[in-house]
Amino acid sequence: MPIHEIRHPLIRHKLGLMRRADLSTKNFREMAQEIGALLTYEATKDLPLEPTRVAGWAGEVDVEKLAGKKVTVVPILRAGIGMLDGVLTLIPGAKVSAVGIARNEETLQAQPYLEKLVGQLDQRLALIVDPMLATGGSMVATIDMLKQAGARTVRALVLVAAPEGIAAVERAHPDVHIYTASVDDHLNENGYIIPGLGDAGDRIFGTR
Ligand code: PRP
Ligand code: URA
Repeated sequence: MPIHEIRHPLIRHKLGLMRRADLSTKNFREMAQEIGALLTYEATKDLPLEPTRVAGWAGEVDVEKLAGKKVTVVPILRAGIGMLDGVLTLIPGAKVSAVGIARNEETLQAQPYLEKLVGQLDQRLALIVDPMLATGGSMVATIDMLKQAGARTVRALVLVAAPEGIAAVERAHPDVHIYTASVDDHLNENGYIIPGLGDAGDRIFGTR
């Protein structure tokens, strides 16, 4: 099942605060990063490890470390930046691949405007971050971009997902697992998620 709704009490509490229309920009930003970190924890549970040996206080110790190429985090600009530091808190060595996609507010079509991807994508886990999965257009365009550049293992972290967006990703990319704090109810006639969070980019950047 490629959709994972993570109903951890800390996530439920923080998301509940984010739903408040009167939450300050500062607090909204903080919660987005914190939930981003908590979703990262869930989405990386099966990262491969390899054995290694370190000099411990009482002599040599057999331990483990992450194996293979570093993870790449892929924030979808602009709002994805609002979760990036949360992911990097847990994976500080990750490489960042920035993707710019703007959703045309009339047609709801995703319009790519920036692609700055790291190399050797075929050997890395790509973790896309974007607070909102609405029609799914922006997410599908980003996954298309990553796969065209060679990515083979792609996961998406979103704060809130609409059933329409989940279905669109499942149709286009059934191998991509989505980790979310909430599967919400539906999209309204303007393509906004209900109950949702409103315009996440505006709330993170203070432009509302
Ligand atoms: C928002 C959001 C997603 C997209 C979701 O970004 O952050 O990227 O819309 O909608 P979709 O699933 O229908 O494509 P927006 O394009 O408003 O840009 P912003 O991040 O610059 O605010
Ligand atoms: N983008 C947002 O920021 N919010 C939505 O509800 C849908 C798209």
